[in-house]
Amino acid sequence: MWTMTEIGAAARFVPLVVALAALAAGHGSTLRAQQDPGAGRREHMREMMRGLVPPPGMTPAALPAPDSDGARLLVRYCTQCHDLPSPRYKTAEQWPLVLERMLARMEAMAPGGMMGRGMMGGAPVQVPPLDALNALLAYVQGNALQQVRPEELTAGERGDRVAYLTACTRCHAAPSPALHPPEAWAGIVARMQGNMALMNRPPLAPEERAAIVRFLQASAAGSRP
Ligand code: HEC
Ligand code: HEC
Repeated sequence: MWTMTEIGAAARFVPLVVALAALAAGHGSTLRAQQDPGAGRREHMREMMRGLVPPPGMTPAALPAPDSDGARLLVRYCTQCHDLPSPRYKTAEQWPLVLERMLARMEAMAPGGMMGRGMMGGAPVQVPPLDALNALLAYVQGNALQQVRPEELTAGERGDRVAYLTACTRCHAAPSPALHPPEAWAGIVARMQGNMALMNRPPLAPEERAAIVRFLQASAAGSRP
């Protein structure tokens, strides 16, 4: 028969063994977590909130002005819960509201916030101080997606234009065809097909994709001086 203290000791012992085993097995990920506090949460969010959070693919080096303070702040604060967002995902008009929502989420998940360390655990969420928040807003607005109004689009066949306006506004505002030279658009549309797969959206049919590329190339060429 075990005494109460022995049972108590055993009960304490078991979680300790489990914790030690987990620590040994997860040593690499513990180190990673120290270097990259958002890693675990990002993995959860990628699965649980697929299509709602920015998809994987964006890297710090691919950000506009990657060495600027704004880019560094984006990497630091905005990868704590999900993959790195591109400033070009939203327009300058949209960003303030999105940032406001993100700030509320960070405050809720910071230590002492409504959700404390959150259901997903991981390192405590850090909230940017006001000066960092202002620098973040200036950075994302300064590098935001340039939107086009449908009535500004006159180049190309009408059917191609409709294909573009239908398929390319499902996740973000309609990007201006003048953003890139004609030869760049096929590659960007291919990257967007990747984003569609990552975000659980239906893929483009081959003829739809051809029409969109045709339209973007014609419009981009038309917008050259
Ligand atoms: C505390 C966790 C957390 C942090 C930190 C965080 N986000 Fe988010 N983000 C979310 C969640 C949850 C969603 C999905 C729900 C939503 O859109 O509110 C999201 C969604 C987004 C989206 C897609 C929204 C849309 O309307 O399509 C963008 C863009 C985004 N975040 C940008 C940012 C930026 C920029 C930062 C840094 C300033 C940031 N996030 C920091 C939790 C976070
Ligand atoms: C499934 C959601 C989704 C759809 C649909 C989508 N995009 Fe995007 N788009 C994104 C995401 C995420 C980003 C930011 C990350 C990136 O640049 O890949 C983005 C960014 C962009 C940018 C700004 C970045 C740059 O390189 O200039 C352009 C332009 C763009 N998309 C064009 C398009 C076009 C054209 C289509 C229609 C074929 C399209 N998008 C459809 C998700 C989508």
